[in-house]
Amino acid sequence: MPDRDHGDIFSEEYSKPFLPPDHFKRKALVKDDTPYKEAADDKLAYWAGMAENIDWMKKWDQVLDDSNHPYYKWFVNGKLNVSANCLDRHIENGLGDKKAILFEGEEGDSVSLTYNELLKEVNKFCNVLQDMGVNKGDAVTIWMPMIPEAVVAMLACTRVGALHSVVFGGFSPEALKDRILDSNSKILVTADGAYRRGKVIQMKGAAEEELKECPSLEKVIMVERTNAAHQPQEERDFLWSNLMADAADDFSPVEMDAEDPLFILYSSGTTGKPKGILHTTGGYLVGVNTTFRYVFDYKDEDIFWCTADIGWITGHSYIVYGPLSGGSTIFIYEGTPDYPGKNRFWELIEKYKITVFYTAPTAIRSFMRWGNQFPEKHDLSSLRLLGTVGEPINPEVWIWYHENIGKKNCPIVDTWWQTETGMIMITPLPGVTATKPGSATKPFPGIDADVVDDEGKSTEPGQRGFLVIKSPWPAMLRTLYEDPERYEQTYWNQYQGIYFTGDGAWKDKDGYFWIMGRVDDVLNVSGHRIGTMEVESALVDHKSVTEAAVIGKVHEIKGHAITAFVTLKEGIEGSEELVDELKKHVGKRIGAIARPEEIFFTYELPKTRSGKIMRRLLRDIAENRDLGDVTTLMDPEVVKSIKDDYSDN
Ligand code: WTA
Repeated sequence: MPDRDHGDIFSEEYSKPFLPPDHFKRKALVKDDTPYKEAADDKLAYWAGMAENIDWMKKWDQVLDDSNHPYYKWFVNGKLNVSANCLDRHIENGLGDKKAILFEGEEGDSVSLTYNELLKEVNKFCNVLQDMGVNKGDAVTIWMPMIPEAVVAMLACTRVGALHSVVFGGFSPEALKDRILDSNSKILVTADGAYRRGKVIQMKGAAEEELKECPSLEKVIMVERTNAAHQPQEERDFLWSNLMADAADDFSPVEMDAEDPLFILYSSGTTGKPKGILHTTGGYLVGVNTTFRYVFDYKDEDIFWCTADIGWITGHSYIVYGPLSGGSTIFIYEGTPDYPGKNRFWELIEKYKITVFYTAPTAIRSFMRWGNQFPEKHDLSSLRLLGTVGEPINPEVWIWYHENIGKKNCPIVDTWWQTETGMIMITPLPGVTATKPGSATKPFPGIDADVVDDEGKSTEPGQRGFLVIKSPWPAMLRTLYEDPERYEQTYWNQYQGIYFTGDGAWKDKDGYFWIMGRVDDVLNVSGHRIGTMEVESALVDHKSVTEAAVIGKVHEIKGHAITAFVTLKEGIEGSEELVDELKKHVGKRIGAIARPEEIFFTYELPKTRSGKIMRRLLRDIAENRDLGDVTTLMDPEVVKSIKDDYSDN
């Protein structure tokens, strides 16, 4: 791939990289390349220095223990508590009356909590958890809308030493059940329902049947958010409000080892079963604290808004643990950007005087399509820094963001990272890095990222390859929950001693990274990771289906749209009704985000002679490309007939 020359896409004004504006650079937390130099000189000393920004109950003996690859340990024998770092120490430093959380609900209701107030809520919930018999190391599942109680529940888990497993509120009850079973959770914290574009979506009430099938589950705690119906079960079910009303508001944070588990977060992989990505305490906190402050240029007066859901890693690291360990003020919004109007986000930025705004390219693509009239109506002058995450951003979309939201005044940090990496890995530092639209630029200080070929050799500028991380970093995943084999297999088997990200990328002559997206069977639909196998398993689970192949078709707004090719059982006819039924079935098994956009019936799927489904060919068909050589297929006629049927449709 040629090095990108912006001159060919953009006007003269945009033909060069974007330098940090002078006014920004002057006040920036990082103004020059010192951290890059320090990290290059002695990486472990650099990370040890970063760890000094955290309060330790006992200091570590060793920064990194790499003697048992790929099971790394960071800050060995260090003791700390994450909630104490996110709450108590700020209060001790005189920030007790500073706002920790500003919240606005979809209906316009609002809540604000100072650090003092948040600590009290967290302490109360710790007492609730303790009374329910939650001990250090127990798992608690959190399935909630975007409300402050979700943050309280997460922080309380870390304070008592329980590990949380937050399940995205949009996942279906069946997906919730699978995750409760896999993590062996004793407690579920949930809500009666969630507001979504003016409607109430039932949560707990919709999951009653599934909850009965979770033997480990002892108690269910429910926040009353919407008055949605549910069937309380005596002895198992409790109301959040009742429990909190009676709970004491002090609780001493439990001393945790740096390597004690902090949370599990399920993420899609290349099989039907989601992976329970396990993060631990010390390294994770050092990683997210450092990146939060450096990448988002921490300022005491910031109002930081990360629009991700708390159920994804972005919500964990940059709604909760990064900003709160940094003593920042976070803004949380419950709803979507288009309800009640398409100006909702801009209205909120104006109202809350948001200074740093971090969102996904898919959202920006929608904003751009809706038109400039929506942001134009609002005063966005409080903004000083913009960010993106989750997928590659098209350069034109980057420019739109820069002009219409940043008013050419705000640097943009395009941050590449993963659930597995825990922290931002490739990113500009906004006061230092010259940015190129569409590139996440360079590895964060202390991160050894590279692009390599099949043999693991660094590629030349412009040459495509695989994105890898060549040495351990503090917030890295430690394993897959109760599945170390899959951990080794997925991340460490491609190359000796090197972490495989699953992304394709190339570097330009200036050493900038350009991420091209997944090279495995994982899709990125509106910034959400969905495994093709997960959707296929859900389809095959339907009584009419024999076999299914799922691909991501390139989609203007969503990045990928899910397209499924389905073979039906003998004697069953494909129909519009069956298409609808199958879409609903996937929605029920996984959640609305995984519902296929298109379903095609075919009498056979294209396979190699060894029986492997050729998804690449299906992608070519769906995206209207030439099929090239198909002679290696078991039955070359199959693709021809699928292609003809598809184009007739
Ligand atoms: C993709 C989200 C290009 C990538 C934090 C990665 C990106 C996957 C970017 C992880 C970016 C994330 N540019 N691609 N700035 N950020 N990705 O686990 O394919 O939900 O592997 O973590 O998103 O998705 P995950």
